Amino acid sequence: MMDCALKTEKLNLFYGTFHGLKNVDFCVYRNAITSLIGPSGCGKSTLLRCFNRMNDIIDDVSVNGSVLVNNRPLEEIDIIELRKKVGMVFQRPNPFPFSVRENLVYGLKVHGYKRSDYDDIMERCLRAVGLWDDIKDKMNTPALSLSEEMKQRLCVARVLTVEPEIILLDEPCSALDPIATMKIEELMIELKRFYTILIVTHNMQQAARVSDYTGFMLLGDLIEFGETPKIFTAPQDERTDGYITGRFG
Ligand SMILES: Nc1ncnc2c1ncn2[C@@H]1O[C@H](COP(=O)(O)OP(=O)(O)OP(=O)(O)O)[C@@H](O)[C@H]1O
Ligand SMILES: [Mg+2]
Repeated sequence: MMDCALKTEKLNLFYGTFHGLKNVDFCVYRNAITSLIGPSGCGKSTLLRCFNRMNDIIDDVSVNGSVLVNNRPLEEIDIIELRKKVGMVFQRPNPFPFSVRENLVYGLKVHGYKRSDYDDIMERCLRAVGLWDDIKDKMNTPALSLSEEMKQRLCVARVLTVEPEIILLDEPCSALDPIATMKIEELMIELKRFYTILIVTHNMQQAARVSDYTGFMLLGDLIEFGETPKIFTAPQDERTDGYITGRFG
């Protein structure tokens, strides 16, 4: 049995009366990249947000079924600990409007890291995302003045500072050009040695390139889940086949 870093069992989510996730059984394997694909509005972001309780802040959401993080029920995990363990990167790079350094130390302050460790941690995380050489002499420049790709790398680095185990990325490349996208994809592949990664993407080629496992969603259902080459070359469900061959979506 492979180990699920994240898991849902019979997970249902409602926005008011709208059934957004329907009995979803899903597993995100450790130290692998899993992607979620499916047409707009099928529930990819909703499912992703369940894993760090980001849906909690939306009014009128109700949930039943279970979400497990490292085999522990989500509701038993302290929210601060959860946000540390499960980092999130968004569609548009969203560094804070402060310096590069302030972006990186933000989480360290929240989580009470020792000041004397800041420099080492910042260097480690900037190296991990391939930014160190470019940025080591610009730690005081405003993060918002960086290129879009560098901003997104910085956002990944910011997540890494507090030593997460799992990284959620919701269409992290959709605001980037093809070359920047390729670089972020390479970064994800690099990171999976140390982290578990769940990525939502509209881009099927991206899912095929980077992920080990793929889930296909449609109208709140997880239609099919499996090893990426299998999903793309021999899907079991005709709806998956229809989507990957471009008949809809
Ligand atoms: N806060 C909300 N309140 C009400 N309905 C919502 C809310 N967020 C999402 N929905 C609805 O839930 C469904 C799933 O939305 P979700 O954003 O998870 O889809 P998605 O697969 O991520 O789509 P996209 O590819 O466009 O990002 C959609 O029908 C959407 O309109
Ligand atoms: Mg979405």
